[in-house]
Amino acid sequence: MVEITRDVLIVGAGAAGLTAANDLRKAGLSVAVLEARDRVGGRLWTDVIDGAMLEIGGQWVSPDQEALKETIAELGLATYSRYREGESVYIGPSGELTRFTGDIFPVAPETEKIMVDLIDKLDAMVAEVDADRPWEHPDAAALDEISFEAWLAQETDDQEARDNIALFIAGAMLTKPAHAFSTLQALLMAASAGSFTNLVDADFILDERVVGGLQQVPLLLAERLGDDVLLNQPVRTLEWGEAGVTATTDDLTVKARFAILAHAPVLYSRISFVPPMPRRQHQLHQHLSMGFVIKVHAVYDRPFWREQGLSGTAFSPYELVHEAYDNTNHGDERGTLVGFVSDAHADRVFEMSAEDRKQHILESLSHYYGPEAMNPVVYYESDWGSEEWTRGAYAASFDLGGLHRYGADLRTPVGPIHFACSDLAGAGYQHVDGAIRMGHLVATNIVDASRGAE
Ligand code: FDA
Repeated sequence: MVEITRDVLIVGAGAAGLTAANDLRKAGLSVAVLEARDRVGGRLWTDVIDGAMLEIGGQWVSPDQEALKETIAELGLATYSRYREGESVYIGPSGELTRFTGDIFPVAPETEKIMVDLIDKLDAMVAEVDADRPWEHPDAAALDEISFEAWLAQETDDQEARDNIALFIAGAMLTKPAHAFSTLQALLMAASAGSFTNLVDADFILDERVVGGLQQVPLLLAERLGDDVLLNQPVRTLEWGEAGVTATTDDLTVKARFAILAHAPVLYSRISFVPPMPRRQHQLHQHLSMGFVIKVHAVYDRPFWREQGLSGTAFSPYELVHEAYDNTNHGDERGTLVGFVSDAHADRVFEMSAEDRKQHILESLSHYYGPEAMNPVVYYESDWGSEEWTRGAYAASFDLGGLHRYGADLRTPVGPIHFACSDLAGAGYQHVDGAIRMGHLVATNIVDASRGAE
């Protein structure tokens, strides 16, 4: 067994862990990043499938994501805008397709008024929530006890308005059914992006992509760390105490003064802690679970929808693929659509054979774009639910009541063990921006703690 010693050991070479490692190095501390997979990036993974470059994980950057934008600029990466010329499409409860422009779906005028009023009301509520401390909201307990679905039902009888407003948080963000998370959790999701209006605005939230793929962010951050990033090293055991930490993988022992767990919180229990984590963390961690969404990539010989004056943007809470976009790569002659199949719908299609699932998903795309959508030259489903070191997509959220009960201790260190991950973030929650913010924060806290200990 090889033994190495560093100031800080970091479990996980995703955006959070690699950001923290670089900051700590700059502050003069030595680091080792232990990564379970045979690659860096975690939920950022740009790969070539059947000749098409695909973003299997995260890809979009929005204007408010300052920490991510700063890292992208610092690494010298170029960005480009998502294609958005032309009309979007919406499919209503009767299956009727309507083309539209702007943010508000083309619904009946009375439904539109209800949706606009709900968005205004949610914006006002979100403005009262500090994304970094939603549990401090004066009504946190009450808002955390009611599911978002039940709250919407209290607000209006208009089912289509409810379905559409729920879609922005449930299918599109937390990727759990709206009965499975609280209204406080929904407000946090919106507050983390600045407002509810920002979530509704696809042009804002899905604004830019990185030329060559977003995985370059972790790849370039890791390059700077050289041999201090160790792949194929799942941490099995973490001993901790006043003297520091010792991590054991299958072939390494790493001793350090501090550890950072920089991975999805649902994976903490994969590590044997010696001594065990305190009662509070044992409880807290059980109340967080991953959402689940299939990201579907369909590449065509050309972006045929543009010929029909369509932007590629499509929404419907009544379709298997509840949202889809033009995801054509920068400078690519071929056209790519990306669509999303969320939560219970994803469960359902995973009960089918791969061929049947593909057929159902492509049929749903054809409802938006016409029969040509049935014949992609490349088809791929990102299935993060079967990834052992992630277990879902996009990220983790609390069950009903969990956020106000446990949230304040999400990022509280346990002795020398610190926590950093997009799933623990306020601003940038569930996004790469949040991962980077958490990486910076935890590094600052460890630098302060190490100075205090000198
Ligand atoms: P992340 O999970 O990336 O990294 C943790 C690392 O720890 C992993 O590499 C894992 O292997 C490793 N690990 C776990 N346990 C370990 C152990 N015991 N020992 C050693 N290593 C261990 N965001 C965004 O901003 N824009 C977007 O468009 C999207 N879209 C999107 C699509 C899909 C399909 C997914 C899955 C996710 C997104 N996201 C996104 C979310 C974004 O990708 C995500 O929030 C961050 O990449 C998470 O970064 P972290 O570093 O926090 O964790």
